[in-house]
Amino acid sequence: MAQKTLLKGRVLSFNGSPFEGEPTDATNIHEAVLIEEGHVAALGLGSVLSDAHPDAVVKDYGNHLIMAGFVDPHVHYPQTAMIASWGKRLIDWLNSYTFPEEMKFGDFEYAAEIADRYLNLTAAHGTTTMCSFCTIHPESVDAFFASAQARGQRVVAGKTCMDRNAPQGLRDTAQTGYDQSKALLEKWHGVERISYAITPRFSPTSTPDQLEAMGALWAEHPDCLMQTHLSEQTDEIEWVRSLFPAARDYLDTYEQFGLLGGNGLYGHVIHLENRERDRLREVDAALIHCPTSNTFIGSGLFDMNGLIHEGHRVGLATDTGGGSSFSMLRTMAAAYEVGQLRGHPLHPSQLLWLGTVGSAQSLRMDDCIGNIAVGKEADLVVLNLASTPAIAQREASADDLWEAVFPTIMMGDDRAVADVWIGGRVVSGR
Ligand code: GUN
Ligand code: ZN
Repeated sequence: MAQKTLLKGRVLSFNGSPFEGEPTDATNIHEAVLIEEGHVAALGLGSVLSDAHPDAVVKDYGNHLIMAGFVDPHVHYPQTAMIASWGKRLIDWLNSYTFPEEMKFGDFEYAAEIADRYLNLTAAHGTTTMCSFCTIHPESVDAFFASAQARGQRVVAGKTCMDRNAPQGLRDTAQTGYDQSKALLEKWHGVERISYAITPRFSPTSTPDQLEAMGALWAEHPDCLMQTHLSEQTDEIEWVRSLFPAARDYLDTYEQFGLLGGNGLYGHVIHLENRERDRLREVDAALIHCPTSNTFIGSGLFDMNGLIHEGHRVGLATDTGGGSSFSMLRTMAAAYEVGQLRGHPLHPSQLLWLGTVGSAQSLRMDDCIGNIAVGKEADLVVLNLASTPAIAQREASADDLWEAVFPTIMMGDDRAVADVWIGGRVVSGR
């Protein structure tokens, strides 16, 4: 008979979007969740589920918050070892820190070591799914997927294609970018919990020929996600304008090559023109907010409130290692701070929703991950809401769950992560 596990605690489930109506109306708190065959089998009262499933192994988490594992829809796992590099803005940061590190990933052994390190660190921080850029090297993709597959983890990644404005040794061509991406896609896409994302880095590092080849590959595999960067820094936008003088705007450098679509993920999207906003919404593209990165690299303040209320799909991401943390809690805190600077403080339920359901929606995976609901895959994080003395003393005087969880969002880190479950099995990240 299948192993059943009953987790008791405060189980958070979303029944809708906290951006529509009262933020707290979109949530339900249950006493227990039953896991069976890697999926959520039931939610409800602890005593009712215990009586109905006397054969279940019970794990009682007391007052801890049990919620869906965090989903991080824009990361660069190869930047793990150079996170928190000082003092540069985007283009200099790429040339000084990022590209030299990414050069190392032609070596499978090194790529495998960093993939393991990255997946250990992120599991310890409660992240169960991510969508990662790799490097131009097919080895970097094989290493990441092999490591995730061994963990039974749902991940998305792709070979980062660049055929100009990158150093020797970190450039492919339009043809090899296409051929290698296609071979990796055919090898990995749909294998167990693995998905392939077609990945042109951003238009400054791809020739029109390469963007066209990426667009052709996406047209052959429209079910795949496509990820890239858009409108992150004003200097970058000027550079794009000089490289593509005929383009209407930055988005047009993707759109004209078939790289605008509903399965597209566009990272940063800070300095958008009205036409770009309209087109992104018309095609129902995913916009990915990377707040620790946007403040760390000095890029700007994402318009969360405006974009959500215009009807955009928005995910929340670390952008490791342009982002300054592996933690989705820290990332939610930064989203809160950016919201404050724009005059729209986000409610804790909105922050938790963005880092789970919202991000899963951006990956078009909300049917299977990002929430605790019957039938979803059992990827969960268990949060201790009193993980440090500073957090505990504030949590002690909280009047409700939202006041209790907010100090952990603002001040929590991997110490707040009591346990992580992936595919119905507990993993120890730390
Ligand atoms: N734009 C192009 N490449 C990158 C990258 O690696 N990180 C960030 N933050 N922006 C980019
Ligand atoms: Zn990025």
